Amino acid sequence: MDNEKKHLQKDEEYEIDTMTNDRLIKGHDYDGIRELDNDLPSWWKWLFYISIAFAVIYSIRLFVFKAPDLIQADEYQAEMTSFKASNAASKDEKTFEVTLLSDNASLAAGSETWHKICAACHLADGGGLVGPNMTDNYWIHGNTVQDLYNVVTNGVISKGMLSYKDQLSDKARLDVVSYILVKLHGTKPANPKAPQGKEYK
Ligand code: HEC
Repeated sequence: MDNEKKHLQKDEEYEIDTMTNDRLIKGHDYDGIRELDNDLPSWWKWLFYISIAFAVIYSIRLFVFKAPDLIQADEYQAEMTSFKASNAASKDEKTFEVTLLSDNASLAAGSETWHKICAACHLADGGGLVGPNMTDNYWIHGNTVQDLYNVVTNGVISKGMLSYKDQLSDKARLDVVSYILVKLHGTKPANPKAPQGKEYK
């Protein structure tokens, strides 16, 4: 019988270690080191079958369906476009330009901020109270958009002018500075505070 023959053959080839149930190959004995021929553990076999299935599915997706997430050139292109987009966005932030704004929307926003926050110290008409007069040609820290923007951004803490870096966005600070220069400067307030600083003509 075939089965019996196989069985016999196996018995001739192997020897079972009665302590560990390990299957030892007969005749492979090198200085007492013997070769085992145990069955592979089932976790190993399953890992092997799964990796075969993975390879088959992967190959079909790559070579038959040309899946875009597996094609290197496509992946590279996608990475490059998203990098360029994010780079452009961060550059926009850095190159925020401090230039005088004169459009109605910006000046209206600036006016709102002025009356809500700044008027307490500089008066609604810019005549000055605790803070200096904004309508005259005298400025302590300079008369350019950038000069005013710097004061509003960093404040002059020792003199009582606060920093609005955290409270107002870059744009909101530029709006209110533009409002000062376009709408308040050069007007005649009811009770102008005496000039402070240097005269700019
Ligand atoms: C708590 C009072 C106070 C508030 C509120 C305040 N300021 Fe001032 N501000 C001052 C004082 C005081 C100075 C003068 C600083 C100095 O002597 O260097 C000043 C100076 C300035 C200057 C510089 C003037 C110059 O002559 O160089 C600008 C511009 C200015 N403030 C804008 C603003 C704006 C815009 C707001 C609202 C977002 C504001 N301030 C809110 C008190 C205030």
